[in-house]
Amino acid sequence: MNTELLMCDTAHFRVDYEINPYMHREVQPDPQAVLTEHAAIVAAHLGAGRKVEHLPSAPECPDMTFTANVAVVRGRRAVLGRPPRERAAEIPYAEEWLRASGYDIVPAPYAFSGQGDALAVGDLLLAGHGQRTDRRMLPVLEAELGCAVVPLQTSGPRWYDLDLAIGVVDAQTVAYCPEALDTPSADRLRGLGLDLIEVSLEEADRFALNLVSDGRTVTMAQGAPRLAGILRERGLRVVELATTELAKGGGGVRCTALTLA
Ligand code: ARG
Repeated sequence: MNTELLMCDTAHFRVDYEINPYMHREVQPDPQAVLTEHAAIVAAHLGAGRKVEHLPSAPECPDMTFTANVAVVRGRRAVLGRPPRERAAEIPYAEEWLRASGYDIVPAPYAFSGQGDALAVGDLLLAGHGQRTDRRMLPVLEAELGCAVVPLQTSGPRWYDLDLAIGVVDAQTVAYCPEALDTPSADRLRGLGLDLIEVSLEEADRFALNLVSDGRTVTMAQGAPRLAGILRERGLRVVELATTELAKGGGGVRCTALTLA
């Protein structure tokens, strides 16, 4: 898992609108600093032996750097995202790339945050709904991707995508912030028989759970020493990356990559 990723770039990354609680038009990312941050994330993926494909960002798409939201991919099938209208222009670019790369394309009939709300854990798909994803997408994902969907809701718009509240470490291990999920969802997650790592609200707030793991190397945000320590104790290699500029758009490490394999 996470051995092949699709990433855009930061050439047009700006805060033009405010569609999550972290975005403020008066706090713009520094273009040079975000370029450096993004390059370090790409370098960390390559250093972990992951393949990185590039989808060029488009000028009219200031959030395209958060490639995770454009689709969710499983095998040769891609279910496209259906983001808020501010980001709608990104989807045809993603569709074109995925189609040209040989994926079967399934358009989303309802609001869908792509991989932001769809986290594969082995044969399960942890699927967020209630924020950026319409609940009616869940049976669509189950049918189209052929995996058992576990519906989960976060505790509010601070966790507008599930990948801010939960981080998948390997096919058996999931890190999560209990306060970031609503109570029935936290109970449902605990009932799955997975190996769970609890992460504090303080570290989750720094987008610690927005990580990319291939089961050997975990690439994650700086500022979460407790989670990084637990992962290292478990024998994982952990690469901590600066994400202060990306955070101005409300995203972190995982948001910048769409998992292809
Ligand atoms: N500014 C982007 C938005 O609000 C950030 C997306 C972050 N992506 C994620 N997978 N959490 O849509």
